[in-house]
Amino acid sequence: MAAPVVDAEYLKEIERVRRDLRALISSKNCAPIMLRLAWHDAGTYDKSTKTGGPNGSIKFEEEYSHGSNAGLKIAIDILEPVKAKHPKVTYADLYQLAGVVAVEVTGGPTIDFVPGRRDSSACPNEGRLPDAKKGRQHLRDVFYRMGLTDKDIVALSGGHTLGKAHSERSGFEGAWTKEPLKFDNSYFIELLNEESEWLLKLPTDKALVEDPAFRPYVELYAKDEDAFFKDYAESHKKLSELGFTPRPSAKCCVKTSTVLTQGAVGVAVAAAVVILSYVYEISKKKIN
Ligand code: HEM
Repeated sequence: MAAPVVDAEYLKEIERVRRDLRALISSKNCAPIMLRLAWHDAGTYDKSTKTGGPNGSIKFEEEYSHGSNAGLKIAIDILEPVKAKHPKVTYADLYQLAGVVAVEVTGGPTIDFVPGRRDSSACPNEGRLPDAKKGRQHLRDVFYRMGLTDKDIVALSGGHTLGKAHSERSGFEGAWTKEPLKFDNSYFIELLNEESEWLLKLPTDKALVEDPAFRPYVELYAKDEDAFFKDYAESHKKLSELGFTPRPSAKCCVKTSTVLTQGAVGVAVAAAVVILSYVYEISKKKIN
């Protein structure tokens, strides 16, 4: 499908969608499943074939019925009325914006969002998303295939600060943290806390503590939430833009209008100063 034209009207529509998503996600307390939807649409990317990625293809039964996507039809259905209200915005942009807003409304970092993703009906084969029962080599195989790094793997795994596993969906049960609707660094704190064995720790979560290249990031993020938020925001942006090259217009429209607005304000202030000094001079003459 063709890429959407990211003109001033599209940008305005994105801001309207953002507002609707904030209200919807807060009122339904569905931030965790929205974040998982955005990640599962994006996480199929294969950089060598340039297939998969954040392109909305998860909305098709062929893809949402993959075992790893169990339960995500709920999130797809929740977003359908937003798409109906804002048909111009692509599913690909809608799902990624929902992920960004989910992090934001639960107290996480602000993630830069650039619109313009095109939709695709080409669903990737099953098996591109990570299998929670596997270990560190599997994590690397999957994330390196996307073009992501060890740091991205650890930072993005911090997304499990939100939500829980459901036995009927994944076979696992329970939350990773004590406050699963709050986006903070507690996922890493609990990962290092041997006394919180009652909280969920998937084999892939444990791999982050056991691996010598992953562990330093876990330790850093557990003690420094600002460092986690900074890295998470960068990695999330990368994930949400896999295979997507933002067209310059997407950013330049915002910048140009800001510059124009600032320019117009400058001209108006200068004009006001000239008029006021003229009036002042006249009134001075009248008094004299
Ligand atoms: C590193 C590899 C990953 C594995 C193996 C993995 C696996 C899982 C599993 C098994 C579940 C439980 C699903 C259910 O039963 O409902 C889950 C849930 C979740 N995952 Fe991941 N995940 C990974 C990475 C990520 C990433 C990168 C993010 C986001 C940045 C993320 C966000 C979430 C969220 C928010 C939930 C909770 C969903 C809910 O409460 O409904 N995961 N993940």
